[in-house]
Amino acid sequence: MTTSPLRVAVIGAGFMARAHSHAWRTAPRFFDLSRDPRLSVLVSREEARGQKAAHDWGWDSWSDDWRAVIERDDIDVVDICTPGDTHAEIAIAALGAGKHVLCEKPLANDPADAADMVAAADAAARQGIVAMCGYSYRRTPALASARRLIAEGALGTIRHVRAQYLQDWLSDADAPHTWRLDRASAGSGALGDIGAHSIDTAQWLTGERIEGVSAHLRTFVTSRPRRSAEVGLGGTGDLDAERLPVDVDDAAAFIAGFSGGALGVFEATRMALGHRNANRIEINGDRGSIAFDFERMNELEYYSEDDADDRRGFRTIQATDPAHPYAEAWWPTGHGLGYEHTFTHQVVDFVRSIDGTPEPPTFADAYQVQRVLAAVEESARDEGRYTRVR
Ligand SMILES: NC(=O)c1ccc[n+]([C@@H]2O[C@H](COP(=O)([O-])OP(=O)(O)OC[C@H]3O[C@@H](n4cnc5c(N)ncnc54)[C@H](O)[C@@H]3O)[C@@H](O)[C@H]2O)c1
Repeated sequence: MTTSPLRVAVIGAGFMARAHSHAWRTAPRFFDLSRDPRLSVLVSREEARGQKAAHDWGWDSWSDDWRAVIERDDIDVVDICTPGDTHAEIAIAALGAGKHVLCEKPLANDPADAADMVAAADAAARQGIVAMCGYSYRRTPALASARRLIAEGALGTIRHVRAQYLQDWLSDADAPHTWRLDRASAGSGALGDIGAHSIDTAQWLTGERIEGVSAHLRTFVTSRPRRSAEVGLGGTGDLDAERLPVDVDDAAAFIAGFSGGALGVFEATRMALGHRNANRIEINGDRGSIAFDFERMNELEYYSEDDADDRRGFRTIQATDPAHPYAEAWWPTGHGLGYEHTFTHQVVDFVRSIDGTPEPPTFADAYQVQRVLAAVEESARDEGRYTRVR
């Protein structure tokens, strides 16, 4: 296959920039791609961080000016790995400059910005420009297989969606403040940080939209110590005596009505001690069920009513067999995949979209998630009143 270069700029130098760097490097080595990703420039606000990250993660150069990078003729892709308050400005500018855009989730911090991003993506699409949002859990082979099972009708009519996203890194009341606890930067707390993944996964797996919600949000710890540097989940650097306010939710719980009639129960928290990254979903239909937990990401639980009476029960499917999406490119069956593979698969799907085979989630899909997040917040402000997604 002939490969022309695809020159990438990543904006950000934190957790996701590192995961995406690995993915850009790895994707062409394991998958046949029509374009050859080049790690051209990494953008960081801080010089020392930018230089070190660019060097360690394999980028040709670094810059502290994303606006200048977006204007460059020798950049094809802008990969946005910064907090939510920056997504709209960077994405709209990049799309306007004719760059393909991969933007981390949640798409924005509110539906108005997300709608502007959809308009920019629609305009750019007319010039052949691709925009995708980074709901990376879609690229987990076990979940992609679950989606296929559901689309084939193996679960029948969907009745229940039960989604929990449980982390515990904020359980300690003296864990440091980060941008993830600041509404202006993050939009919301556990809800938009991890609950957004559950919403996206649930809608994508079922093919149904959430139409309304009844929600409660809680903030258990209202201030936290400042940390001198803000990179990574907990930040780095010395703890400061000063405490900064927390103005987002620590936990979110809501019930949801789906367009096909299913009933959803959702929970997102960063205070469930003992659960490091339990991104779980269970779906029950009238013919079968699936259950998944990212902490066992190579396994899919599947129950079928079609099994003989004396053989019924959840079975554990190893999603490493080449028959599962993405798995064929990797290791022999049973030699599992990890977190980083989901980002590699995301790059593969993004490059294939540029090549003319569109792969969701589009900005419009991510805008729908944003509207659900807004409805959850509106409902919680009104003591859980059932609130339609607008
Ligand atoms: N897909 C996933 O599973 C997943 C996981 C984690 C984070 N995310 C998303 O990725 C994005 C980044 O999160 P992260 O965990 O990498 O955060 P992080 O704190 O580790 O890194 C953020 C980076 O953005 C930079 N930055 C912040 N504001 C900036 C600005 N105004 N201009 C330029 N750079 C700026 C910071 O200096 C830092 O380098 C967020 O939208 C987050 O929700 C997605």
